[in-house]
Parts: sequence; C-alpha cells; structure tokens
Amino acid sequence: MIQLHDKQFVPFISAQEIDFAIAKIVAQVQDDFFDETPVFVGVLNGAFMVVSDFMKLYKRPCEVSFIKMASYEGTSSSETVKELIGINQDLTGRTVIIIEDIVDTGNTLLELKELFKKQNVKHFKIATLFLKPEAYKKDLKIDYVGIRIPNKFIVGFGLDYDGLGRNLPEVYQLKD
Ligand code: IMP
Ligand code: MG
Repeated sequence: MIQLHDKQFVPFISAQEIDFAIAKIVAQVQDDFFDETPVFVGVLNGAFMVVSDFMKLYKRPCEVSFIKMASYEGTSSSETVKELIGINQDLTGRTVIIIEDIVDTGNTLLELKELFKKQNVKHFKIATLFLKPEAYKKDLKIDYVGIRIPNKFIVGFGLDYDGLGRNLPEVYQLKD
C-alpha cells in the first residue's frame, strides 16, 4: 500500500500488464497505418509515459507532438477543459493519433476533437491506455483501447493524484 497526500492506494495493474497493453495498441496502429507517417499527439501531463513506451515499440516512420489540456481537480473530473499548450505544426492531410493515458468522462477528448476539426487532417484517431467504460458516455468512438477498468480513481504510470504518483511504474487504485 502507498500513501499520496491524504489518501491510500493499493496495487492494481502491474508494469507487465501495462507493457502488454501498449504493445497491443502499437501493433494495431502499425497495421492500420503501415504506409503512412502518423503524427502521435500525446496529451500532457498524464500521457508522457505511454507515449514514450509507445514510440519505442513503433517501428515505422512516425512523428510526435504534445498538447496540454487540464480538467481534473483532486479525484474527480471537471466539466471545463482548458487548452494550455497547443500544437504549432501544420497537420493538413496528416494522420493524427491522439495518445491518452486514460479516458474518463471523455470531456477532454471532445474538446480535442473540436480543436482538430479546424485542421484539415486526413485521419483523426484516438488511442488510450486506460478507459473507464462506466464513466464514458460520449458518442465519439475510441479507436484503440489498452485496458478497460472499473470507475475508480487510479494513479501511477503518468497518472497523478494532485501532482503525486506519476513516477510509479505500475498502477494503484484508491483504497476504499
Ligand atoms: P476526462 O476528460 O474526464 O475523460 O478525463 C481525462 C483526464 O483526466 C485524463 O487524461 C487524466 O489526465 C485525468 N484522469 C481521469 N481519470 C483519472 C484517474 O483515475 N486518475 C488520474 N487521473 C485521471
Ligand atoms: Mg490526461
């Protein structure tokens, strides 16, 4: 068990399961876009570890960029999503693959979809390491999902609780 601020967390998903899930997504994306040079867009801060592992496994030509959005306060998602760092590259005609750490309510994704609507991209796809199906009620299709998890707050592998826990190589769940 670990303690972050005032809360306790218990082990939930191992580093090996995470590796396996990322490798699965990489294989699917590589297959789908074999002859293209996709631009992977990591959503900061949480997705930095997923993007890093993803890129190391991806064997075809590709590019990477990052965007920073913020919606979470404490342990619950908020409605308003802000764009804090944007993308300054021309993405016209490009295959854009968003890489997320986790999709919860999907508010962040919808905001991203809006942002990319204005750029004339060829494909807009979404990949996420974790998905909370009980919390996600949006129509927007999530193209690549690593691991589906129950609607519980998790930390580790890039995910934080008020800033802490991102450095954990495996995932922990809030203790009830
Ligand atoms: P959404 O907009 O509600 O889908 O939430 C998206 C963002 O909230 C994710 O990219 C994470 O950064 C953060 N988030 C969602 N669920 C969790 C969680 O269980 N632990 C830590 N951060 C989370
Ligand atoms: Mg995130």
